[in-house]
Amino acid sequence: MSINQQLLNKYNVAGPRYTSYPTVPFWEDTPTEDQWVTSLNTAITDASNNNIGAALYIHIPFCRRLCTYCGCNNRITRKPGVAKPYVQTVLKEYATYLKKLGRERLPISEIHLGGGTPTYLTPDELNTLISGIREFADIQEDTEFSIEADPRVTTREHLVILQSLGFTRLSLGIQDFDPTVQLAVNRTQTVETVETLTKQARELGFTSINYDLIYGLPLQNIDSIRNTILAVNKMQPDRISFYSYAHVPWIKPAHRGFTEDDLPDGDAKRSLYELGRNLLEKAGYHEIGMDHFALESDSLWKAVKKKTLHRNFMGYISRQVTPLIGLGVSSIGDSWNMFAQNEKQLERYVERVNNGELPIERGHVLTAEDKLLRSHILNLMTRLETSWPNEQNTPFLESLPERLTEPLNDQLIQLDSNSCKISKKGLPFIRNICMAFDHRLVNKAPNIQTFSKTI
Ligand SMILES: C[S@@+](CC[C@H](N)C(=O)[O-])C[C@H]1O[C@@H](n2cnc3c(N)ncnc32)[C@H](O)[C@@H]1O
Ligand code: SF4
Repeated sequence: MSINQQLLNKYNVAGPRYTSYPTVPFWEDTPTEDQWVTSLNTAITDASNNNIGAALYIHIPFCRRLCTYCGCNNRITRKPGVAKPYVQTVLKEYATYLKKLGRERLPISEIHLGGGTPTYLTPDELNTLISGIREFADIQEDTEFSIEADPRVTTREHLVILQSLGFTRLSLGIQDFDPTVQLAVNRTQTVETVETLTKQARELGFTSINYDLIYGLPLQNIDSIRNTILAVNKMQPDRISFYSYAHVPWIKPAHRGFTEDDLPDGDAKRSLYELGRNLLEKAGYHEIGMDHFALESDSLWKAVKKKTLHRNFMGYISRQVTPLIGLGVSSIGDSWNMFAQNEKQLERYVERVNNGELPIERGHVLTAEDKLLRSHILNLMTRLETSWPNEQNTPFLESLPERLTEPLNDQLIQLDSNSCKISKKGLPFIRNICMAFDHRLVNKAPNIQTFSKTI
């Protein structure tokens, strides 16, 4: 067995992806509605004092058919007319926020439409939704409006409306272009569809185009990854998310559609990533943190250089905008002092919004230690290193060497009493290193299967 293979076997354990700290399964102290609203109001005022508005994340759960690998909160439906009332519910939720915050309008710097499939909505419905928000928002300078779109249901008309509403960032779900893999995951789409949409978006003035790819899908092999990445490189998206397939059949029953034999194992899966990374780097892309790549001209790479790279529930982003207000079923908001997640069940979400409530299902008020450890985990995820002055040393940080003995011996990190730095060899194991800083995980491993494997 090669050294590389030994390391992959050793560190391929279940672990969080650290899009937040504490990670969602460890949230334990849900804020009351009053606490959440007060915390948001303070964060909005603080941001306004720095000439920044809030960020809005709006979740559109609908999809026409299920991609069997999918880990997102979705509702598969082709029933005509489901989206229209949903748009009205989201607008009502926004109005409820305004009322409870005691504000007539919100200063807004960012809007992110995610899903599910936001382009499940017709261009008219998208217009109603975003115009309805804009009517009661003061849109700040230097805005970022982005949307996740499924190329199979996205038309030029969608792009025209989105552009007129201020959207400049488009993310297209691709995953893999190989027909055998596409059949295995119930998602067929051609290179031509993606090429046409990319060209149209550029002509209309979208300035950042991202492609989502996944490695580790059933029946993927070296050839399918090579062909997919070569096709992607020809279209030169500004950014690429090259995600590790998160296999969580205990949460997503459709993942049971693949037998373990169909899935590339740890070593084979990592080889797919390394091939993909090499081909992307040859085409001019830079690797960013974990699972992300960007051209030098893209703001994500510029953020690495300026050290403003941030990570939240949407993955890596080029700057931190706080607070984040989540609208729509299952959305998560973050005031930087606390998190609040909306109801994950669609009917329950709609019922609570219609009752005039903020539909919060759960959340977490961060402790002082949570905030300290969040800063270290964020530093590691975005800058690959973290450090702390003597006076911030805590018994938990002092005991880091015990938890990091193996990574230290395997030369994955450099560690001293006040800092930790991930080496090039340690890059595939960022999540494992962060786990040593995760007091809640170390204290209380969840007694149910929770996370996907780290590799
Ligand atoms: C909301 S979807 C993108 C928009 C649209 N629904 C689509 O599929 O084209 C978000 C992305 O999450 C990624 N994703 C979904 N399930 C995943 C899983 N189990 N493991 C890793 N990535 C996953 C896919 O790359 C997908 O494009
Ligand atoms: S990957 Fe996208 S289109 Fe497919 S089921 Fe998930 S959210 Fe829907």
